[in-house]
Amino acid sequence: MSLSASDISDKPTLKAIGDRRSIRYFDPDRRVEDWKIQTMLQAGRLASCQGNINATEAIVVDKDTCEIWDEIEECVSGFNVQIINQSSHLIFWLTNLNAWYGRANDGLSTLALSGALTKYHGWNYEFTMTQTVPRLMSFPTERTENLLRFESGQAVAQAMLAGVSQDVYSILIAFGRKPGGIEKAFGLPPHYRFTWGHAVGYPLENADGGGQRVRLKYEKLFHKDEHGTPLLPDPAVDEALRQKGMIQEQAPVAGRFEQVDELAARFHRDPGVVSWPEREIKRLMNDEDWDFGPNIKERAEEVLKHGDLPDYPEEMKDTFRKLMEEHGLDVKKFLGE
Ligand SMILES: Cc1cc2nc3c(=O)[nH]c(=O)nc-3n(C[C@H](O)[C@H](O)[C@H](O)COP(=O)(O)O)c2cc1C
Repeated sequence: MSLSASDISDKPTLKAIGDRRSIRYFDPDRRVEDWKIQTMLQAGRLASCQGNINATEAIVVDKDTCEIWDEIEECVSGFNVQIINQSSHLIFWLTNLNAWYGRANDGLSTLALSGALTKYHGWNYEFTMTQTVPRLMSFPTERTENLLRFESGQAVAQAMLAGVSQDVYSILIAFGRKPGGIEKAFGLPPHYRFTWGHAVGYPLENADGGGQRVRLKYEKLFHKDEHGTPLLPDPAVDEALRQKGMIQEQAPVAGRFEQVDELAARFHRDPGVVSWPEREIKRLMNDEDWDFGPNIKERAEEVLKHGDLPDYPEEMKDTFRKLMEEHGLDVKKFLGE
């Protein structure tokens, strides 16, 4: 195909980060161009990886040509079935555990040849051969798996942002309905892990997904010098990031729920959203950890005013009690005890 550099959008990185949303309504009639998929995969390939061992791989699935689509569909969690069927492509991100054992040695050699690993930092041949490489190669697979899946996450995040830079949106999706089903469907060798499923396409909902999704406050997530001392954000920096489009209007923006209902009507699905118990919405809105702006607070007020909210089922209360206590968490918060 002929593609010139000027066909590729120059969206700035911070704006791409700000524009990214998990999109759940894709346009079933729009196929993402091959060059854009290639751009996303290149972004994944160029992500940082330990020792340059290249453990992250992917299978790109186009449902029009894939012969095992039905098998794939059987494995996806129920709430993701609509998503995969309306998306343009699915990317199955894989982590090759044997890359660690079989390629660490070569990967380090490529870094030395590239001028990245140098004696300046203490690298020397003898130590590398008698200590570093043997130690890395002796890691149990469980540890290797943790390390490498983290890297696969990096690759996926880069691929998603590269997509957003070209107006292609993504969502990561769980395939929890049939454990081991995806590995089986693709006949993956046992040293491969299926790390995550990723649906890609052009949004049918507004590309802003109804606004940037609320997060915990910055100072609740980031600490200064020690854990527990809040690192405070500079409001002037946040303001500048807002102007650059990285921090955007919080969800739900005006018209979001009308759009959700319109899309539901168009595809013969149920309208509306799920709501939590009244007492719980009130408690959440007063939770100091969350960075709640006016949009979500207004929505919470509306939901409370509308009423007709459920209570937690008894089984769920028992589940909270059992699982939270198991993790040393205070269950009173959810149960109002
Ligand atoms: C590893 C991972 C798995 C996810 N799995 C699902 C999923 O199975 N279904 C879904 O609807 N969203 C899934 N999400 C999307 C999150 O729910 C989403 O990130 C969250 O709604 C925050 O919204 P945002 O991504 O638009 O900022 C997943 C996200 C991550 C990072």
